[in-house]
Amino acid sequence: MKKKVSVIGAGNVGASLAQMIVQSAIADVVLFDIADGIPQGKALDISEACPLWGSSSSILGTNDYSHTENSDVIVITAGFPRKPGMSRDDLLHANAKVVSDVVENTARLSPNAVIIVVTNPMDVMAQVSLKVSGFDSRKVIGMGGVLDSARFRTFVAWELSVSPEDVEALVLGGHGDLMVPMPRFTTVKGIPITELLSKDRIDALVERTRHGGAEIVSLLKTGSAYYAPAAATYQMVKAILFDEKRMLPCSAYLDGKYKTNGIYTGVPVILGSGGGEKIIEIELNEQESIDFEKSVAAVKLLVSKLNS
Ligand code: APR
Repeated sequence: MKKKVSVIGAGNVGASLAQMIVQSAIADVVLFDIADGIPQGKALDISEACPLWGSSSSILGTNDYSHTENSDVIVITAGFPRKPGMSRDDLLHANAKVVSDVVENTARLSPNAVIIVVTNPMDVMAQVSLKVSGFDSRKVIGMGGVLDSARFRTFVAWELSVSPEDVEALVLGGHGDLMVPMPRFTTVKGIPITELLSKDRIDALVERTRHGGAEIVSLLKTGSAYYAPAAATYQMVKAILFDEKRMLPCSAYLDGKYKTNGIYTGVPVILGSGGGEKIIEIELNEQESIDFEKSVAAVKLLVSKLNS
């Protein structure tokens, strides 16, 4: 029997992710949304592509949570993207309500699942998901670092005219403007970019990475990025389903590591069938520590706003 992935939210990110999973036939998918007809229509469309893809995976579109029962992985993409006139706080509260509702309805039906949180502000939504699910913290992880690193890799590859495949990058901290791209751990076939690029160029690429999401929002005008977010989430889903033990930057619950307690933020994590099985702790230099603490403080502020 195939593994089962429930994707909650059949919008741009959710539907793109569902497509990638079904096209590559790594699992069966349940695509859930509150909007009547949307998950059903998108699932039917994807199903009709299966003969062309040569895929044996199935996809069910639904408004009924009972169909998500016994999922191996639950991906939460449900929520509102920011609209003009909407404050960050509005988004925080609105999406916290959506995510709480989703977790309440899915966690009890799939007690052994790993939950991947995509909805923004993601680190805070991961914290909400942990609390509402009551799951072990290794079973609740957030998608941010894989996407931010992919953006950094892309910009480095363009700068050096090399294949993006040969660029590895690491981005730590919260999935927001204060994320911490790590140039000394960003390499081209093992060569740190600090050996290949000037400080000014590296700073420019770091800035572009930090605002990578906003750059796309400003181009699209309605809605936010979804191809790369879906591809990043796909990599995490696959690592869990196949117990790959990939080391990927993910938002994980820090309980003392990185001198940080009781908060979700982006760090290198070993991903396998147990979820975020192990957090890898690296020594940060002085500037990196300052930047990391600032980023964590921003996540903490949002958590306290939510709780107040
Ligand atoms: N339960 C289930 N689905 C919901 C709920 C809910 N309570 N509330 C909203 N949704 C659904 C919407 O009906 C919509 O189909 O969530 C979907 C969101 O899709 P989009 O608006 O297309 O947003 P998308 O671009 O996919 O982004 C989703 O991921 O990257 C983040 O910042 C992004 O928080 C956003 C999330």
